[in-house]
Amino acid sequence: MSNLVQKSCFTILFFLLMIISISTHAKKLSPDKPCKRLVLYYHDILFNGTDLANATSAKITNDSALGSHFGMMVVFDDPVTADRRLHSPPVARAQGFYFYDKKDAYNAWFAYTLVFNSSEYKGTLNIMGADPLLEKTRDLSVVGGTGDFFMARGIATFRTDEAQGDYYFRLEMDIKLFECYN
Ligand SMILES: *[C@@H]1O[C@H](CO)[C@@H](O)[C@H](O)[C@H]1NC(C)=O
Ligand SMILES: *[C@@H]1O[C@H](CO)[C@@H](O)[C@H](O)[C@H]1NC(C)=O
Ligand SMILES: *[C@@H]1O[C@H](CO)[C@@H](O)[C@H](O)[C@H]1NC(C)=O
Ligand SMILES: *[C@@H]1O[C@H](CO)[C@@H](O)[C@H](O)[C@H]1NC(C)=O
Repeated sequence: MSNLVQKSCFTILFFLLMIISISTHAKKLSPDKPCKRLVLYYHDILFNGTDLANATSAKITNDSALGSHFGMMVVFDDPVTADRRLHSPPVARAQGFYFYDKKDAYNAWFAYTLVFNSSEYKGTLNIMGADPLLEKTRDLSVVGGTGDFFMARGIATFRTDEAQGDYYFRLEMDIKLFECYN
């Protein structure tokens, strides 16, 4: 009798495990099959003390003495375009901040919102993560979205497309969403 109870317990456990493994398998996402992909360009023009009309970002804390800009924080409201040209009509704004957080190499950390308000897209994507900017490409997390990007999640791959001293840089953002509900 107790043998029978044991057997049926095992059977139930077996089926439970199977259901769990099937449901986790169904959630597996393929890195090369995004549900949406956007390749956009981010332009950052750091205020240099005189270019009030052109600057799109400003230092709000100065470098510390630790080197590699450690401690410097920049707040930005940057134009985002669909091609490399700064003066192309922006398709979104990138609003947020980055700061430098490594002593012996340039290394930044970003948190910002891509604000879309065009006929194509209305809504936001929120992006954050480490930007070890000496690497050729860097992956940041798309942690959420609103509007046309309701509850979206994914990966934004940064590539520095151009850098002119500290005063201008352009990033290619290859945004791949793996959760899309719209
Ligand atoms: C700031 O940038 C502007 C535009 O590029 C340039 O004309 C100006 O000379 C720069 N000022 C300083 C202090 O570097
Ligand atoms: C800076 O802004 C002025 C005035 O809007 C514009 O004439 C000039 O072309 C801009 N300079 C750059 C380097 O974008
Ligand atoms: C900012 O930091 C740099 C380097 O540490 C220093 O030369 C400069 O005077 C500082 N500027 C201000 C406004 O404190
Ligand atoms: C979006 O664009 C519309 C039309 O240009 C404008 O009326 C509205 O204020 C904008 N919204 C935001 C959040 O910028």
